[in-house]
Amino acid sequence: MKARQFALAMIPTLFAAAALAGEYDAIKIEAGASLFDKECHRCHSVDADRASYGPLLNGVIGRKAGSFEGYPYSDALANAGFTWTKGAIRAWMEDNDGLVPGTKMRHVGVTDPTVQDFIVTYLASISQ
Ligand code: HEC
Repeated sequence: MKARQFALAMIPTLFAAAALAGEYDAIKIEAGASLFDKECHRCHSVDADRASYGPLLNGVIGRKAGSFEGYPYSDALANAGFTWTKGAIRAWMEDNDGLVPGTKMRHVGVTDPTVQDFIVTYLASISQ
């Protein structure tokens, strides 16, 4: 009986936590979009009908590395043979040449984990 009461009492708290998590994500996505504009947008379009210097990053999370149709990848990235996860994108932002030696993406060196987190959350939001 006590456990049941406790469980029932927890329900509003859980909902509040979920709502808060949603709010945090919305804030992170917005901040991530601004940071993406500053660090990545000059080379990467997120607009499907616009060509850019780097491959399009819509839907990049869950996509095989070096596989965006029609983009002239370096041999290194085309043959990398892994799928982009949030963690892989963080590592890539931090040291892309370390992750895939021989890539033609210039070193961007985003090492701040908070900035990485915001950009990755933003990319995840345009990957669904
Ligand atoms: C100076 C231009 C430039 C900047 C700035 C840049 N990129 Fe890139 N990016 C590239 C190029 C060029 C490639 C293709 C690399 C290759 O083929 O080896 C690439 C590839 C990628 C890929 C692999 C995509 C795929 O389809 O496999 C990801 C992910 C990526 N960049 C993320 C980022 C993020 C996130 C940022 C910002 C933190 C960023 N890039 C900043 C030029 C850039």
